[in-house]
Amino acid sequence: MKIAVAGKGGVGKTLICGTLARLLARDGYSVLAVDADPAMNLAFSLGIPATEVSKIVPLTENEELISSRTKAPYGSTFGALVNLTPTVDDITEKYGIVGPDRVRLLVMGTVRSGGSGCMCPANSLVRALIRHITLVEKDVVVMDMEAGLEHLGRATVRGFNVLLCVVEPGLQSIETAARIKRLANDINVKEVVGVGNKVTSKRDVKSITESLEKIGMPLLCSIPFDKNIIRADSSRAAPIDYAPSSKAITAIKDLEKTLLTRYT
Ligand SMILES: Nc1ncnc2c1ncn2[C@@H]1O[C@H](COP(=O)(O)OP(=O)(O)OP(=O)(O)O)[C@@H](O)[C@H]1O
Ligand SMILES: [Mg+2]
Repeated sequence: MKIAVAGKGGVGKTLICGTLARLLARDGYSVLAVDADPAMNLAFSLGIPATEVSKIVPLTENEELISSRTKAPYGSTFGALVNLTPTVDDITEKYGIVGPDRVRLLVMGTVRSGGSGCMCPANSLVRALIRHITLVEKDVVVMDMEAGLEHLGRATVRGFNVLLCVVEPGLQSIETAARIKRLANDINVKEVVGVGNKVTSKRDVKSITESLEKIGMPLLCSIPFDKNIIRADSSRAAPIDYAPSSKAITAIKDLEKTLLTRYT
């Protein structure tokens, strides 16, 4: 099962991604969590201690790895002769860090130069790696995406079974969802489903359901607004460790069960 999580900035992608990864790992799956958001917050939501987080070198900043695998100088851009099929099959093992419940985390980092079609060495490596992960990785992959899907290019989600599009009450995140849905359609990703977050009433759920219906996206589940999640944030703890039986975490458990039923 390969799950990509996308949505407007601040809707709760990282909360959902990290918590799902931990829950799936506890249920016996071998889980690879991929942080594809340049903001790189997934480690905290997975419960990796701050001392460990500070040591993480994102793949796109690992100069030696990039130049050795792509056979192009780090930082070179257009015009460099880049190996487009760099060896990547050992990267998950070598560069992934293992956190609580044995979730393995890979932090991609930022691809700075160019647009989504950029073929700089760092981008080539990350693309090859994601292609590899979607083809070869056998168990569960959850990927935390950047808000707009731009950074790694849309093609990164192609190998995923499902793209979860997180929305919250209000129209802004619905507009982003509509855009994500169009991008996904363009590249033939069929399974794009909505997840409501920070809902405070049945009316919120109804209005999200109706808005998503208009763009042809089913709402898979809703997660309530929950102060525990903010408190976890303030104490720099993973929500699942800070408040394991809070209502938001309970709702993410339901989401996990639904995903397992639908996609395994
Ligand atoms: N269900 C919830 N109840 C209350 N607060 C929440 C909930 N979900 C997320 N939050 C809070 O909203 C903020 C954004 O959450 P999160 O970082 O998971 O979103 P994101 O979509 O990954 O954001 P970004 O686009 O910045 O990466 C955090 O401060 C988090 O604590
Ligand atoms: Mg995030």
